[in-house]
Amino acid sequence: MLAGNWKMNKLNRDLGPFFDEFAQAVGLDRDEELTEQVDILFAVPTTLLALAARQMEPRGIRIAAQNIHWEAAGAYTGEVSVDMIKEVGVTATLIGHSERRQYFGETDETVAKKTTAALAADVMPIVCVGETLAERDGGQTAAVVTRQVQAVFAQVADPKDMIIAYEPVWAIGTGRSATTAQAQEVHALIRGLVADRYGAKTAETLRILYGGSANPANIDELLAQPDIDGGLVGGASLKPQDFAKMVKAALPR
Ligand code: 13P
Repeated sequence: MLAGNWKMNKLNRDLGPFFDEFAQAVGLDRDEELTEQVDILFAVPTTLLALAARQMEPRGIRIAAQNIHWEAAGAYTGEVSVDMIKEVGVTATLIGHSERRQYFGETDETVAKKTTAALAADVMPIVCVGETLAERDGGQTAAVVTRQVQAVFAQVADPKDMIIAYEPVWAIGTGRSATTAQAQEVHALIRGLVADRYGAKTAETLRILYGGSANPANIDELLAQPDIDGGLVGGASLKPQDFAKMVKAALPR
């Protein structure tokens, strides 16, 4: 899976031109099997969800929200529920992105509640985990990632199509990607945690994406790692040509 996270970027008027250029570059219209070989997803701002889903879901590209609230409805000013994103044709959502943990008070507990809400509504949760630079330098990477993952697993009996994204905070938007060895090490740790909780079969199929300064130049090496099943891409997903190159890198050859 190649997933783009647009964060707080782009307007509705940008969607048509972006997707036209992306579809052309990636060969979406020439190759009908493309979306069977690689899952392509864009997590877009709330105001773009309806139009993006209408334009892209029929073409086999999934559209995701960047956040949801865990309650179905109620007095939660400014929040959006899972039913609301479903209503406009959205089939997935990011949960617990580090920017939400850092700037908006997201905790392991709220991440777990949101994941449960998404799964109950058959919306695919992409649960984000990752350590800060201070935590890595303090030798806490494994402990932090284990805590973040287990907080979710404790509340989830059946992970269905849950995806986990490992995004080291120090690699996000910094141009400083984790080395493939650093990424692989944490991905293997996460896969082991999945196996402990859900069994070997689920551990084989549950996808673990890497995020953090992934780009056309380093994606091949990242995807070649045994436990890296795809990418969650910020900056490079804003550029149709760059993201198309990354999607192509994920195709079987
Ligand atoms: P960058 O690819 O811009 O480092 O962002 C990664 C990310 O946060 C994706 O969710």
